[in-house]
Amino acid sequence: MSGTSTDGVDAVLAAFPQSASPQLVAQTSLPMPPALRTEFLSLNSAGDNELARAARAGNELAHLYAQACRLLLAKSGISASEVRAIGAHGQTVRHDPQTGYTIQINAPALLAELTEIDVVADFRARDVAAGGQGAPLVPAFHQAVFSTHYPRAILNLGGIANVTILEPDREPRGFDTGPANVLLDLWCHEQTGALFDADGAWAASGRSDPALLSALLDDEPWFAVAPPKSTGRDLFNRHWLMNRLARFQGTGLTAADIQATLQSLTAASVQQALTRYAPNIEDVLVCGGGALNGGLVKELELRLGLPVRPTSDVNIPVQSVEAFAFAWLAWAHIERKPAGLPSVTGARHTTILGACYPA
Ligand SMILES: Nc1ncnc2c1ncn2[C@@H]1O[C@H](COP(=O)(O)OP(=O)(O)OP(=O)(O)O)[C@@H](O)[C@H]1O
Ligand SMILES: [Mg+2]
Repeated sequence: MSGTSTDGVDAVLAAFPQSASPQLVAQTSLPMPPALRTEFLSLNSAGDNELARAARAGNELAHLYAQACRLLLAKSGISASEVRAIGAHGQTVRHDPQTGYTIQINAPALLAELTEIDVVADFRARDVAAGGQGAPLVPAFHQAVFSTHYPRAILNLGGIANVTILEPDREPRGFDTGPANVLLDLWCHEQTGALFDADGAWAASGRSDPALLSALLDDEPWFAVAPPKSTGRDLFNRHWLMNRLARFQGTGLTAADIQATLQSLTAASVQQALTRYAPNIEDVLVCGGGALNGGLVKELELRLGLPVRPTSDVNIPVQSVEAFAFAWLAWAHIERKPAGLPSVTGARHTTILGACYPA
């Protein structure tokens, strides 16, 4: 898995026994090489010679994915021939399901060649073809591993935040709530040079500004749209942020105040969504890199008035959940189990997700 933060690749080796719950065997993460990261960020908007650049970036990504696979095999002492399939999400550079497409840069054929393992890729397209958002795709997996006897939400804080709402005896629901780290990383990098605000320490040195928060949250129509919905860097990008900050020039806000307000935007948009669409949940399990941001998690807990716990409390490390989900989606593809859920994506019907590239 390499998500919208473009920070790196998270990989897991997982087992799916017939009569027991999915098991995490090994995990690893590799940082995204800076030049590849710059290229992916650039490919998020129109530019010169995009097709050839996207193909080359896909090949580079496949080499990085293959390296992650080799590490997992070495760690676990398992050989490639024992692995049924790799689920490889690819790097999203455009997401516009309304217009009928979503684009993940990837090179699954090369990955199959490099690893000698079947590769399942292109998970989102089939759901989009059935009129769905193609995202989020993780709720079916969340249901398989995190369901309990009371209503709960799973909150993934990646580049974008997405929630899954699990209620006993009901189809899971799920949708994107808005930016999680994408704007926090962008502002932090531009102002301090650091790739992210470790533990939210910089945000904690500023003060969240209610007027700016309102301009970011209340003036953006996307937040008020009812689910099913999904988003990405297509909307929440530098242009979006700078447009809004321009109105606050000369108001005395410091760069740290802006960081604190962006943190509040993540927390408040999650709060708004859960209050509206899941008022009965009793706790929240949080995962993704944002779960390592103590300041953000504390703000979420304060705003929600509910226990907010990391998924590591129920034995899945926060950085492994997304990768585990795509391993599960690959398993679902092989089993021909429909994992595209109309209750989440709004598709006309369930679909079997992904396409397989045999080794
Ligand atoms: N210690 C930390 N403190 C604060 N933020 C952190 C920390 N560790 C990671 N992060 C944040 O988490 C981000 C990476 O999270 P993650 O890998 O879950 O996102 P992603 O790649 O966009 O994934 P996806 O799209 O699959 O949800 C980093 O870019 C950073 O913003
Ligand atoms: Mg990541």
